Amino acid sequence: MAAAIMQKMPGVSAIMIDYADEMVRLAKERFQDKPEVAYFKYDLNHGLPEEVFEGVYDLVVSGFALHHVDFPNRLPLYRQILQVLKPGGVFLNGDRFAEESTEVNGWMFNNWVSWMTDRATERFGASRTFDQIRMRQLEMDKEFGDKPGSLWEMERELRAAGFKSIDCLYKNQVCALVCGVK
Ligand SMILES: C[S@@+](CC[C@H](N)C(=O)[O-])C[C@H]1O[C@@H](n2cnc3c(N)ncnc32)[C@H](O)[C@@H]1O
Repeated sequence: MAAAIMQKMPGVSAIMIDYADEMVRLAKERFQDKPEVAYFKYDLNHGLPEEVFEGVYDLVVSGFALHHVDFPNRLPLYRQILQVLKPGGVFLNGDRFAEESTEVNGWMFNNWVSWMTDRATERFGASRTFDQIRMRQLEMDKEFGDKPGSLWEMERELRAAGFKSIDCLYKNQVCALVCGVK
């Protein structure tokens, strides 16, 4: 995503945050020719790194990371994101979400697993069954601490944090793109 943004907006500077050494290493390697990019290995459960508060930003983007952050730490993080945005600045979160009802959430999860099962065959020639992929996804959710919240929960928290307008720009099965404007 960062690469796509930088391609559209040449000269833009960016800060990249992830708490995994490997992700930071890969990002540094990928953007080694871009001195305008800074990197922080930081756990978002503690909010944003101190250095981020030295600037103000047009855009804060997150891709499939915030559903790993512990629930009580999300609102304080949204407050900090709002704080570092310029007036009119935008927060975009493309992420995994859960439905509010356990039953509907089960349907959506299974739809997603069906999609992955078809794709595993079509794209990678792998012959995994629906049950195998479902089981592996449930194991990975545990292993990596996936805790998707609902869209409505995020909307409530963004509003509580002080975002002026909140929209869902896209939703398909368990994935959605949410946008909050300062
Ligand atoms: C599914 S990957 C997405 C990576 C990248 N954002 C992207 O869109 O390609 C989720 C990432 O979130 C990071 N992550 C999970 N919990 C985090 C936390 N509490 N603080 C910072 N990064 C975290 C993981 O290390 C992992 O790189």
